[in-house]
Amino acid sequence: MTFDRSIKIAPSILSADFANFGAECEAIEAQGADWVHVDVMDGHFVPNITFGPATCAAIRPHIKGVMDVHLMIAPVDPYIEAFAQAGADVITAHVEATPHIHRTMQAIRANGAKAGIALNPATPASSIEYLLDMVDLVCVMTVNPGFGGQKFIHSQVDKVRQLRAMIGDRPIHIEIDGGVDPTTAPLVANAGADVLVAGSAVFRGGSVSNPGPYGDNIRNIRTAAVSVET
Ligand code: DX5
Ligand code: ZN
Repeated sequence: MTFDRSIKIAPSILSADFANFGAECEAIEAQGADWVHVDVMDGHFVPNITFGPATCAAIRPHIKGVMDVHLMIAPVDPYIEAFAQAGADVITAHVEATPHIHRTMQAIRANGAKAGIALNPATPASSIEYLLDMVDLVCVMTVNPGFGGQKFIHSQVDKVRQLRAMIGDRPIHIEIDGGVDPTTAPLVANAGADVLVAGSAVFRGGSVSNPGPYGDNIRNIRTAAVSVET
């Protein structure tokens, strides 16, 4: 994985056909997705359950690019090795999921993956001030984690701007997760985000047998974001 700040669209397979993940990953990549975002939920840290490392390992051969695994689970440390072995390029854990998030970031890198740190909407940017030298990605949740299709929380745009200033020249991605569409993408791109996760706004209107709308949706988000990129 090489680092750059160009806009990257990362469709979340939370909005894909759960009976057809392999073909869905191939379809979104063929339609222009840069990364594939994989939402892991445990029914404990968040009020929903998705899937675990075995599913990640099964879809890995169907993804050519970056597999971006977002862990919404607590505890998180006992599972890092399994997700790294499943082929995750980026593993993101929540700052709220453990009192020892510094150790979690160390463990992700020690397992050979890029380390991501996610912040819930109520968590301030300052909470990760002392972690910036050990993370490769900061994920700003612009909805409460747990479900796709929720409304973008506008107060988070200011947090993105603060994080962008804190990050300075460090090679750290700022990822936005939740409610991203062609209307909200420019707000966060202008504030300094470079990875835009989108579930419902990418998968709506399309399917594996009719993937054209995936491409239209990805292009519309990218065009809106790139027009105001900082
Ligand atoms: C929310 C997940 C998101 C979600 C985004 O807990 O982390 O990745 O799937 O979905 P949309 O784009 O529909 O808000
Ligand atoms: Zn996510």
